[in-house]
Amino acid sequence: MERRYIPVCEPLLAGREKEYVMEALESGWISSSGKYIPAFENAFAVYIGVKHAVAVTNGTNAIHLALVALGIGKEDEVIIPDFTMIASAFAVCYTGATPVFVDAEPRSWNIDTKKIEEKLTARTKAIMAVHIYGHPCEMKRLTEIAKKYELTLIEDAAEIHGAEYDGQKCGSLSDIAAFSFFANKIATTGEGGMVLTNNDELAQKCRYYKNLCFPLDGERNFLHNDIGFNYRMSNIHAALGLAQVEKLDYYVEKRRRNNKLYAQYLSDLPGIIFQEELPGSKSVYWMNGIVIEEEKFGMHRDELMKKLKDARIDTRCFFKGMHVQHSLIKYGCNCSGDYETTEWLSENGLYLPSGSNLTPDDIESISSAIRKIHKNH
Ligand SMILES: Cc1ncc(COP(=O)(O)O)c(C=O)c1O
Repeated sequence: MERRYIPVCEPLLAGREKEYVMEALESGWISSSGKYIPAFENAFAVYIGVKHAVAVTNGTNAIHLALVALGIGKEDEVIIPDFTMIASAFAVCYTGATPVFVDAEPRSWNIDTKKIEEKLTARTKAIMAVHIYGHPCEMKRLTEIAKKYELTLIEDAAEIHGAEYDGQKCGSLSDIAAFSFFANKIATTGEGGMVLTNNDELAQKCRYYKNLCFPLDGERNFLHNDIGFNYRMSNIHAALGLAQVEKLDYYVEKRRRNNKLYAQYLSDLPGIIFQEELPGSKSVYWMNGIVIEEEKFGMHRDELMKKLKDARIDTRCFFKGMHVQHSLIKYGCNCSGDYETTEWLSENGLYLPSGSNLTPDDIESISSAIRKIHKNH
């Protein structure tokens, strides 16, 4: 019998999603008013352990809004990892500021904290920590650097729902954090995002700018003092989100179990490198990334991906570095320099199916397909 097609990531809607969405529809509150918006914001703020949460339309806009609230703009520079998803960089460009890239660290694949200081200039205003594939960045060191140089620290927490660093949830470890709730994220609203902060003033600014700069006191005289954005999340999306947050620990458990099983089945194979969970951090393994060492494994990453596709198993290659993005070169970013680890990751990394809905049998089946491909080569 042909194996069922296994996608790289499917959403799992295992709680009260349908009930809440139907309730939102029946209530008639289908735009950005309605009880599910504050309910979702409050539930997620409590879950992450921060004071304020502001729901928005997606993770990219969440990062942009956070940067706007921080006052980042033209002439400023923001340190970001070279190995990240393009949205981290684009959000900086939306403000008119310039993203400055720092190579990845070879074990965690997150920003290499040893290489940040050499990239700081008088224009640097902030550091963006992006927790790659569900693994926490070295937040202690990042906080030290930010303090030393009086920079703002922001977390791009798009991939990290539920992960911990030194016993605290990621998303609560910086001045302001931005989450994504895209369909492949550990908690999803289909499309959606949220900005989290403990800072009252930043939260107010996020609420103001996300709603076209309508006055926060509710007065609607249609006089706008600043240029704002429509980043409002709908009540229907928030209904989905509330149901997802209620089950978030369950989804995190599934993601961690997936990783444990992959490690159990594959770690003795030569030429497969896993992302490391650094001491003091609890990763959520949003994606199970592996790097294929061609010499030891016997084939290149691309060939393995093709053979897995033939076996009806979906995978994705890793992000490309920011320094090779034509869009960012055209924008005027400095793309020269050494990005050895990012290049190694982009050329050799892939992620395996990682959704919360995978069963132990699925992981076993994917792993034995990899072992078979390796053996027959
Ligand atoms: C690291 C990172 N930042 C930002 C985003 C953007 O989120 P969204 O797709 O919700 O705009 C993503 C999305 O996958 C991401 O992985």
